[in-house]
Amino acid sequence: MSVTTSPTDAGLAGSSGPEVPTVVSSWNEWDPLEEVVVGRADGACFDPAEPGYRPQIRGPRAPGETFPVGPKSAETIRRANEELDNLSALLADRGIVVRRPDVVNFDHPLRTPEFDVPTQYCSVCPRDVVITLGRQVLEATMSRRARYFEYLPYRRLIRDYWNRDPRMIWTAAPKPSMADDMYREEFWELTQEERFARMHEFEFCVGQEEPVFDAADMTRMGRDVFVQESMTTNRPGIAWLRRELEPRGLRVHPVHFPLDFFPSHIDCTFVPLRPGLVLTNPDRPIKDEDATFFTKNDWRFLDAPEASSTNDEMPKYCQSSRWLSMNVLSISPDTIICEDSEVGVHRLLRAEGFEVITVPFRNVYEFGGSLHCATWDVRRTGECADYFPHFGPG
Ligand code: ARG
Repeated sequence: MSVTTSPTDAGLAGSSGPEVPTVVSSWNEWDPLEEVVVGRADGACFDPAEPGYRPQIRGPRAPGETFPVGPKSAETIRRANEELDNLSALLADRGIVVRRPDVVNFDHPLRTPEFDVPTQYCSVCPRDVVITLGRQVLEATMSRRARYFEYLPYRRLIRDYWNRDPRMIWTAAPKPSMADDMYREEFWELTQEERFARMHEFEFCVGQEEPVFDAADMTRMGRDVFVQESMTTNRPGIAWLRRELEPRGLRVHPVHFPLDFFPSHIDCTFVPLRPGLVLTNPDRPIKDEDATFFTKNDWRFLDAPEASSTNDEMPKYCQSSRWLSMNVLSISPDTIICEDSEVGVHRLLRAEGFEVITVPFRNVYEFGGSLHCATWDVRRTGECADYFPHFGPG
């Protein structure tokens, strides 16, 4: 495939005087990682039910047992932190700068003019909340009430980046109301048959009035950014991103996975590994029209193998699917960190020529995700390149 560094982005990506340090710069998901934020489990609560969210217990449950509300146990938090700390140490050993969010207690009710929730959530998944798009750090609107203020544990870091890097752009997307009428609660009542019949409508639990997006619904491939329509990102949210990012030289493409009836966050569905190669989810193929852009630019889709566990075998309070197996973190175009137990993924990636590093991470799963979710890359070597030179029809 052909790759060109985009001339229109020279001003954004290029180097200015040597005396000006570059702290924030990351254009894709695979270039060599230099600085990263790893989440922490301290102060975490169970994700409360709300109009945009209905947490479920997995596997067998006692009669009358309901999803817990309130803080997670000290032991659950300790085990997750052990794995998050271990990942941090491994990255640091490889010479990568690792930063951590503030310790915050999420166990208190939140009340705004439009809503209240019994608790907030956690700071394990920075990926959901903030994203680096070149020299810009963008804080997402978020889509769930319990996550409204989840940017706060990262603000000390963001301010530090902003103070140290005069070319860093710091943007917070407009906060939605999260009022009752922002949501479509009827979504939760649909039968499987109805979901199947409406799979091409892409209407989920958020309405289409207020712009709404979570950062993890985006994936970056140089000057092209792909955003999935989901339960956590609506069409006005994508329109907002387009208007924000296109003047900066990026191209924003909505993408769709019609067989994912509960889509949220693209990183268990469509995961770029290096230029020309995307790890894809065999249960959730990309819509044909969206696939064309990749195939005509010589990109290849690599289906993930069966995950190591079934959905029912995932941790009892985990709200993600077994496809956390494919939630990998690239630290260079040929080195990828995977979860220890996901041997099928290790084998597949090794056969593709990657060096695979494995770490235990299953105790983090019930905090919202795996290795990609729990990290936010602030700086990767490399500039803005165009990996999709064949643009437009034909
Ligand atoms: N909804 C995804 C799945 O269950 C999980 C995505 C987790 N990603 C994240 N960035 N928190 O397949």
